[in-house]
Amino acid sequence: MFLRFEWVYFPFPMNSNLKKNDERLIQNLVENSYCVLDNFFEINTFNTFRNYFENHLKLLKPAAIGHKAGKNINSKLRSDLICWVDETEKELVDFFDTMFDIQYILKKELFLPIKRFETQMAYYEKGSFYKRHQDRHLGTDQRLITAVFYLNERWKKTDGGELVIYKSDKGENQSISFEPLGNRLVIFLSELEHEVLITHKARKSFTTWFRMDL
Ligand code: OGA
Ligand code: NI
Repeated sequence: MFLRFEWVYFPFPMNSNLKKNDERLIQNLVENSYCVLDNFFEINTFNTFRNYFENHLKLLKPAAIGHKAGKNINSKLRSDLICWVDETEKELVDFFDTMFDIQYILKKELFLPIKRFETQMAYYEKGSFYKRHQDRHLGTDQRLITAVFYLNERWKKTDGGELVIYKSDKGENQSISFEPLGNRLVIFLSELEHEVLITHKARKSFTTWFRMDL
């Protein structure tokens, strides 16, 4: 019998640029099931992301539910418009660098077997919603963590569009809701059921999923 030694190569940076407080919140993610990071980016950076979104509205298409053969557009379940965003987009360098930092913490501190992430921009026109669902396609569990970053300015309570996350704790159903405030990042376990309540104003976000497949 041979003993084999292998060099372990970590293809990610050895520390992150996140604020210490944000790191701490993310470190409690598994215990709490979610975390909320407000005023997340510098205001100029946030405005660059907002401009990017405005300049790419033409790429948005009605969201499809499910994947592969089961894919269809189901406007009863969701009515947002989406498109995939490329990690190489120059205006979004700070966004993706930060997603890499978060991925680093999720892997190193929480030991989650994450291999990559994917990002979508999502646009909910007035009257749009996304009914209660999980971010996992039927029979797959590759999406471990969901992070939603909101780009809405001057959002009021009466504008609706809250993200509601359902937690079942010892059989008791609990829910917590978040307004889609600009420069807010909400991170939660993808297995949790959640929904987007009907919005009374255009609602914009980047959604990132951290996945365990390659
Ligand atoms: C989703 C989703 C929540 C939100 O895109 O799967 O649930 O607040 N988004 O936009
Ligand atoms: Ni979702």
